Amino acid sequence: METYSASAVTRNYDRLVGVYDLLASLWSGGAIRAARMWCARQTRSKTRVLVVGAGTGDDAALCCANGADVHLVDASQKMLAESVLRCKSSGGTDPVAIDDDFRNVQFTQPMDDILVPFFLNIFCSAELPQILRHLKECNASDGRILISDFSPPAHFFASKSLMELWHGIPMAFFFLFTGNAWHGVHDLPHALEEAGLTIVQRQKFRIFGIGPRWIESLIVEIKSDR
Ligand SMILES: C[S@@+](CC[C@H](N)C(=O)[O-])C[C@H]1O[C@@H](n2cnc3c(N)ncnc32)[C@H](O)[C@@H]1O
Repeated sequence: METYSASAVTRNYDRLVGVYDLLASLWSGGAIRAARMWCARQTRSKTRVLVVGAGTGDDAALCCANGADVHLVDASQKMLAESVLRCKSSGGTDPVAIDDDFRNVQFTQPMDDILVPFFLNIFCSAELPQILRHLKECNASDGRILISDFSPPAHFFASKSLMELWHGIPMAFFFLFTGNAWHGVHDLPHALEEAGLTIVQRQKFRIFGIGPRWIESLIVEIKSDR
């Protein structure tokens, strides 16, 4: 059996429930929200949708409004409760809420779509393959994984350094306050390729609507050799 060292589960997200959306919006100029809502808009009625690390859940609420059979997983009780509240006020389906570390969660029936909004950035690059493997295990063989996260690091030194700085400031906060891993900007397309996942659609979002395209959403499918 393959072994790897899993990081400790995060802490203190409960205490961020009232300010998380505001912080994300001030820091990204709406790009974070735009990316996760773009993913939620891709979901359809009567499909099984999992939202991993749902947070305050405005994207999950849109999936419910779309009529999907939504499952929410979050290790923070308060984030999960806020997400459930938003889902219930969407006027759509009622979600199933799972208060647990995603790495411990198993499903008897596979998911059609798995939304992964700003969740992969919690983990260091050494742990990413295990998280991606678990996402694949939860997904139907013809299902999709919809990721919103940071774009891969830029090529040029100046833009790469600027992006690392922009990414590093909140990273330092989350590293100290919630126990997220400390790492540089992930090259997610490369990690996905290594994990046997294929990007079939890619949408980039500009910081403050006019800045660099440092946030992106990816629609990913499992390669047929599964
Ligand atoms: C960076 S926030 C992202 C919130 C939201 N999805 C967004 O896009 O703004 C990460 C969320 O994942 C949750 N989380 C952290 N580690 C987790 C784990 N191992 N399993 C499940 N949820 C986790 C946190 O409680 C938090 O709500």
